[in-house]
Amino acid sequence: SRTYVVTGSASGIGQATTNLLVKLGHTVIGVDRSHANIVADLSTADGRKELVDAVAKLTDTVDGLICAAGLGLDAPVTAQVNYYGTLATLIGLRPFLANSAAPRAVVLASVAVLFDADADLLGAFEGYDEAAAIVRAEAITDQPGAIYSTSKRAVARWVKRHAPTSEWAGAGIALNAIAPGMVMTPMISEQIKLPEVRRAMLERVPMPLNGIAEADDIARALAWFAGPENTHITGQIIYIDGGAEASLRGVGT
Ligand code: NAI
Repeated sequence: SRTYVVTGSASGIGQATTNLLVKLGHTVIGVDRSHANIVADLSTADGRKELVDAVAKLTDTVDGLICAAGLGLDAPVTAQVNYYGTLATLIGLRPFLANSAAPRAVVLASVAVLFDADADLLGAFEGYDEAAAIVRAEAITDQPGAIYSTSKRAVARWVKRHAPTSEWAGAGIALNAIAPGMVMTPMISEQIKLPEVRRAMLERVPMPLNGIAEADDIARALAWFAGPENTHITGQIIYIDGGAEASLRGVGT
């Protein structure tokens, strides 16, 4: 049995993944703002440090890490959680992963990585300048989804850039980004009840194969990518999106 850390474990995809891994007999350390083994606010530097300190009290080895904590709000906190919170989790827990015989990490990106990113916010992210990112995010709160899609683009690029390096691949750690289409979780379930919103969202994210996914559909894939059977897939953006990426982007890219 393996030890997993799952952020965002109190709801949606993180919760479904936690339940699945526990059912498979693994130990899961759940992390969230409440209702979790480790209660930490990943939008703050203190919360990110608390996470790493609390894991260290429980174990010196993490076999699998699933970063599912995230927000979809048009507010700077989305940048703080989705990008800086995720990076702090990856960087802070990497030494624990390095102690495992079969370490794997997965990050929840989104099919939104394909949408327009804000160049200035992306620049702030890639310069690791959180203060600048907050200022820029504040300025684009009137552009629906811009902070979210830019945060997901940035985190996916970070994964791609770091996965093949000595710190990750060199330490035997597979590192991938999972990009779901729409998933029926509290993040979208209220909006999607409105037929006109549902129609508009399916136009933006078409899902010809089986439609909007359930959290369990994503959890099964996450468990595999974070499990020992994944020996050679790393640095990938894996779309679990019912054909959205293929519909939007087609062949050739
Ligand atoms: P959710 O809202 O059900 O769960 C997200 C969890 O993250 C919540 O339990 C929340 O408390 C936690 N969280 C938020 N801010 C936090 C903070 N500051 N510190 C600690 N924990 C925090 O959403 P869902 O759908 O399960 O999302 C999981 C991941 O999947 C997110 O990264 C999301 O962006 C991504 N995703 C979701 C899609 C969807 O359609 N639901 C589609 C594509 C990606």
